[in-house]
Amino acid sequence: MKPLRKIIFPAAGSGTRFLPATKATPKEMLTIVDKPLIQYGVEEALAAGMDQIIMITGRGKRSVEDHFDVSVGLELTLQQAGKDKLYNIVSRVSNMAEVIYVRQKRALGLGHAVLCADHWINDEPFGVSLADELIINEKPAMRQLAEVYEQTGCSVIGLIEVPEEQIHKYGIVAYVEENGLMRLTDMVEKPSAKDAPSNLAMMGRYVFTPRLMELLHDVKPGRGNEIQLTDAIAMLAREEPVYGVRLQGQRFDAGSPEGFLLANAILGMQHEEYGPSLRKALKEYL
Ligand code: G1P
Repeated sequence: MKPLRKIIFPAAGSGTRFLPATKATPKEMLTIVDKPLIQYGVEEALAAGMDQIIMITGRGKRSVEDHFDVSVGLELTLQQAGKDKLYNIVSRVSNMAEVIYVRQKRALGLGHAVLCADHWINDEPFGVSLADELIINEKPAMRQLAEVYEQTGCSVIGLIEVPEEQIHKYGIVAYVEENGLMRLTDMVEKPSAKDAPSNLAMMGRYVFTPRLMELLHDVKPGRGNEIQLTDAIAMLAREEPVYGVRLQGQRFDAGSPEGFLLANAILGMQHEEYGPSLRKALKEYL
């Protein structure tokens, strides 16, 4: 079995739900407590041993590249000023991972975004992570998937149960139990609650065999006239086993302003350094 080293981050979306905050700043760079959203995703991938990162970006995303790049001037200034703690934080980010940037020139859907990384996959297994879905757990979400990949050598999808009224926002799976694992038999992109095969939603964490990339070439525009990743996964599941994992952790929909604010509030209150005083201050305000 080939080791899982590569991971794709689709990050070309325009972030209109966050306007005007995202007028000149990519949504991936909006801060959750003390670091940009995309850094949570990258740290999670690294904790799962995936250290070859392929970021799918587009116009206006330069600050994402700068964030993971070395900032010689800044690092020197911090060093000379004896600000060791800050220097360590800044230099750790720039040395975190090898990142390749690929531009998605047109917004043709999530499947199309993943296909943009085709050239860099080289017949290897790969992860896909949607950083908007922020999942916090001691065993990071991608690690939870990687363990099932290591056990089976098959594709694995992260799942979370959603209430009926939210089913129409997600890719929903059908499954059967098989040897203690959940084998996915079908998946539908954003069905109505009455047509949904279950209430288990694909929650932005995927590990794929390289076959998925080949199948993506054949996917025709589907829901919303977009090239849907879900449609390629359904094709894959007809050819080879695809397993589901119920993700453990606190999950925030950081792609919506409400979920983003909630993540800041909850993770802020849980933060080692800022948490105690924030909780105290909030009690006084509320
Ligand atoms: C995408 C996927 C969907 C998945 C969701 C998770 O949808 O197409 O299958 O359930 O992410 O957030 P989007 O939110 O990009 O519309």
